[in-house]
Amino acid sequence: MKISVIGGGSAYTPGLVEGLIKIHRDVPFNELCLMDIDETKLQTVTAIVRKMISEALPEVRVTATADRIAAICDTAFILCQIRVGGLAGRVLDEKIPLKYEVIGQETVGPGGFAMALRTLPEMYAIAQDIKKYAPEAWLINYSNPSGMVAAMLAKYTDINAVSICDVPIGVQHFIASLLKLPREQVKLDYVGLNHLGWFRKVFVAGKDIMPMLEDMAEKTDILAMLPGDDEKTLHESEMMLRIFKKTGVIPSSYLQYYYLTRECLQEQLAAEKTRGEVVQGIEKELLAHFEEVARHEDAHLWKSRGGQWHSELMVGILSAIHNDTGEEYIVNVINQGCVPGMDPEACVEIPCLIDKRGVRPMHVDRPSPDMLGLMQLVAAYETLTVEAAMEQDYNKALRALNLNPLVPSLEIAEKILNDYIQAHGDFITLK
Ligand code: G6P
Ligand code: MN
Repeated sequence: MKISVIGGGSAYTPGLVEGLIKIHRDVPFNELCLMDIDETKLQTVTAIVRKMISEALPEVRVTATADRIAAICDTAFILCQIRVGGLAGRVLDEKIPLKYEVIGQETVGPGGFAMALRTLPEMYAIAQDIKKYAPEAWLINYSNPSGMVAAMLAKYTDINAVSICDVPIGVQHFIASLLKLPREQVKLDYVGLNHLGWFRKVFVAGKDIMPMLEDMAEKTDILAMLPGDDEKTLHESEMMLRIFKKTGVIPSSYLQYYYLTRECLQEQLAAEKTRGEVVQGIEKELLAHFEEVARHEDAHLWKSRGGQWHSELMVGILSAIHNDTGEEYIVNVINQGCVPGMDPEACVEIPCLIDKRGVRPMHVDRPSPDMLGLMQLVAAYETLTVEAAMEQDYNKALRALNLNPLVPSLEIAEKILNDYIQAHGDFITLK
């Protein structure tokens, strides 16, 4: 059994491989194929992955290629983590809106829109290759914008696919660690879209413990209990906690851009670097570190890019499909009536059961009017953005961007869109 990683040169790959090593007993693969168009990064990451695999699973062959079709042929699972236009593209996505005093963020607002315009045609091309060369294979996608990728795959292709995000599992882990319980014992009533969701209830042994969590948030320093000392996570958690205290519902960290828009914008305008620029630095350091470890040290000593939940989620879903377990995970899926009040065709992020037939969404309670209103608006924006990307339609792109709640006017939408087209060159082509 072969497993392939498209975007295998990513700094996230060693973390992913660590997850694959853990599930090898349940998912006995014998080839791991890393594919990337950036051959330098691919070489660096392959070297450390070879070292990790040879220490843990000497029977597994690690292959590396820049040829996507070679990676897709004869494979059972394709794990996809591409970034079309690279981190340089992300930096443009974030910086251009800031010129017009609009939030500049990787997946939310105009940044997510530009990322969709670049990513969706490429994901479609990957899906076409899968259809042709490995029609039985499963695509597990982590590439952003994950919700719009899910919508595109469902509407324009019929391959086996799941599109995921680690925000829900991250919150589940945090709550579980507060209560000193294993993650599986914490059940979430979560509803939303990708990077726009709410944890409405938290169940432990069948009981909703939200009132207890609210009490805990009032009386204790929850932030001090966060594992690790990552500045970004700390800041996101602070914003989430503030929204939680005011609304009684735990928000996805990305809701800060909708609920605390002005403050987020001021912070971004005052910051020396965008997040994409910070990540460029992190990536550079990590790649140098990987080279060092692959050359000299014990493979266990590598430092991760973070994203351990993304690895756990990806391999968990892979194992649920392979072993037909029907486990519950929160993923992106076409609504099909599971979220009352939402268009049945809209792509939502809700708890689903996963087995060898794929993703079965579970019914959830109707969102409150404020949640539903925001979900409907952003879902409409996403639908129009997906169409604009797939039809390369300028007019639809402009209407989509104007609809995004973080964009203040048609004129600003037009300026941002035109700047994106100019700055991204061949990565964004609209007629
Ligand atoms: C979370 C999101 C991902 C996103 C990442 C960005 O994990 O779920 O979708 O890619 O954050 O993190 P970064 O460190 O690149 O800013
Ligand atoms: Mn995500």
